[in-house]
Amino acid sequence: MASSLIEYPPRLDLARLPTPLHLLPRASARWGAGKRIWIKRDDLTGSALTGNKVRKLEFIAAHAQAEGLTTLVTCGGVQSNHCRATALVAAQLGLHCHVVLRADDDSVSTTGNFLLDQLAGASFEILPSAQWGRGVKEAFGRAEAACLRAGRPALLIPTGGSDSLGIWGYIAAAEELRSDLVNAGIDRATVALATGSAGTQTGLTAGAVLHELPVSVVGYAVCDDSNWFNTRISADWRASVARWPQLPDIALAPITRDHSVGPGYGRADPAIYALITELTRLEGIPLDPVYTGKAFYGLITDIEAGHYDDVDDIVFVHTGGIFGLFSHEEQLLKATASALVAE
Ligand SMILES: Cc1ncc(COP(=O)(O)O)c(C=O)c1O
Repeated sequence: MASSLIEYPPRLDLARLPTPLHLLPRASARWGAGKRIWIKRDDLTGSALTGNKVRKLEFIAAHAQAEGLTTLVTCGGVQSNHCRATALVAAQLGLHCHVVLRADDDSVSTTGNFLLDQLAGASFEILPSAQWGRGVKEAFGRAEAACLRAGRPALLIPTGGSDSLGIWGYIAAAEELRSDLVNAGIDRATVALATGSAGTQTGLTAGAVLHELPVSVVGYAVCDDSNWFNTRISADWRASVARWPQLPDIALAPITRDHSVGPGYGRADPAIYALITELTRLEGIPLDPVYTGKAFYGLITDIEAGHYDDVDDIVFVHTGGIFGLFSHEEQLLKATASALVAE
């Protein structure tokens, strides 16, 4: 389907677009095994609004405004990039924001994303991870009722903004990527990204088909596993097709890779911190230890194993996460100290 035929839902202009696509010359020489590694800088969608979430929020917040919903309610880990982006978007639009946050361990790190949630004026509730699931549903119910009573009705946004509204952000990003590939002279590529709640991968996978991109989209799971994500992506896509008549009823074939999870969501092995350090020194681009660092690690492991020997070009989508670095200060400083010793 030609891109001009896709009718997008209402959208706000929140992200700084298009984001650059550029070559990583030294990373290609170091890990590319003869291939060119490119980076799509979705970490440059904004300053505090950095990352993939703002693309989704362009459609989500437009829907909230159209429906007269003046509070954005959402959820995620204490260091959620999505919650931070939602809190900032709400402030930027003069809306209210409430975030339900999961404490993944005993000590809640108040720095990074959580600090920005608070700076942006979001109200918050913290739940222990053992109470997540049912707890978040109940918290959403309480927040929705309180917002109604206060005369500022809420839009309830699921984890990561990954729903049939949010996926439009990356259907549109695929259209942008099509022009990037033409401008860079890339005929065929693998597009790799971190997958956490799957909206980015769903949107890009669908967008690649809709906009006829010569690419395979590969998600590197940072939690759960490939079966779980492939099932979820197919289900989210079916829900999107059911909601939006302009989307064709095609079957998606999502590709998710498993070996990026490591010790679990939000925790990383020393190899990830070492990789973040090395890439920052090589290219001046920091990744984060929760999403992009793990995905890049999975990607270079696959390149080394010959998994992508059928393509000359790899595009890594940098989905942001810079503020997540600050709650991993100790491990990162250890990695930089080891890098100095090794020099
Ligand atoms: C920095 C970063 N990269 C990647 C992802 C994964 O995106 P998605 O939740 O759409 O799978 C997220 C959010 O979960 C994120 O914050």
